Amino acid sequence: MAEIVLGMGTTHGPLLATPPDAWDGRAEVDRNNPALAYRDGTYSFEELYETRKDKYFVDQNKIETRTEYHRRCQVALDGLGDIIEKAKPDITVIVGDDQHEWFQDAVQPSFAVYHGAEVTNFALDEETKNWHRQFGRGHSMMMNHPEKDQTYKVAGDLARHMIERSTEDEFDTASCGIQPMGDKGPRNIGHAYGFVVRRILRDNPMPILPVLINTYFPPNQPTAKRCYDYGRSLGRAIKSWDTKARVAVCASGGMSHFVIDEELDWRLIDALKGRDVKTLTTEPEYSFRSGNSEIKNWIITAGICAETDMEMTVHDYVPCYRSIAGTGSGMAFASWR
Ligand SMILES: [Fe+2]
Repeated sequence: MAEIVLGMGTTHGPLLATPPDAWDGRAEVDRNNPALAYRDGTYSFEELYETRKDKYFVDQNKIETRTEYHRRCQVALDGLGDIIEKAKPDITVIVGDDQHEWFQDAVQPSFAVYHGAEVTNFALDEETKNWHRQFGRGHSMMMNHPEKDQTYKVAGDLARHMIERSTEDEFDTASCGIQPMGDKGPRNIGHAYGFVVRRILRDNPMPILPVLINTYFPPNQPTAKRCYDYGRSLGRAIKSWDTKARVAVCASGGMSHFVIDEELDWRLIDALKGRDVKTLTTEPEYSFRSGNSEIKNWIITAGICAETDMEMTVHDYVPCYRSIAGTGSGMAFASWR
């Protein structure tokens, strides 16, 4: 039977691959965003600044602080890479969100599992790189995608088993067997997967298994409770797979962004660590808007790990601010062992 041997959680925010002196480029995107989600409100950058202005954010944005925070993030990422390299799982399940990378407005499943035999991470052409550069994420896109196309094996048999078993558990998992097509051919793998494969699995992964969640786009994002229950179902599915395999699972994304809310992040990190299902599943849904929604990838992963006796360790939490209105990314790194 398959065994779940390791859980991991990693933020994948663009600042992780962006030199600290270039973080202001991403802050420009915040300045032009008319709908910054923060707690139960929605703000322009100026409104957010008026609401939150504090010397704390001025200090947090000093280049020395940014540089130290960036360093801490790299240490944490390297540490996660070392852990999985040492654990040598046969398969890594990556729980991420699809942000119109594979699925589009035509169809956006709440839950999808990819069961093709392989998946390709395509090199970016110059036009695409330039398109990302204007949003200050040129560095991160070059982190997430290789110089030359890379094809990775996918654990399709386990993926199909997870689709079947979760369906028996009354979850309507969308079944995705071919990398969806766009205007220029197959669509590239999403940022949530490219980041983990490149930065944590060092572009040389064991077979992977992408689980794609619509955390982001209304109207069919699954609730936090639904995510936790889905994770439990996936965990049971992995354990019931009639093949000897050591399986790792990795949550990709979070914590709060583009407006950092350290209180929210710590409330949910503590709940993830403490198996506090009530807190995880009763957090108001407005807390999971925008980038914050990716915390649901962690909730699913916590649900999977709840089917084991593994305990979560928080390796680091780093609030990487990029503006004096408190925008940026709350970066968290953890493992279940
Ligand atoms: Fe993301």
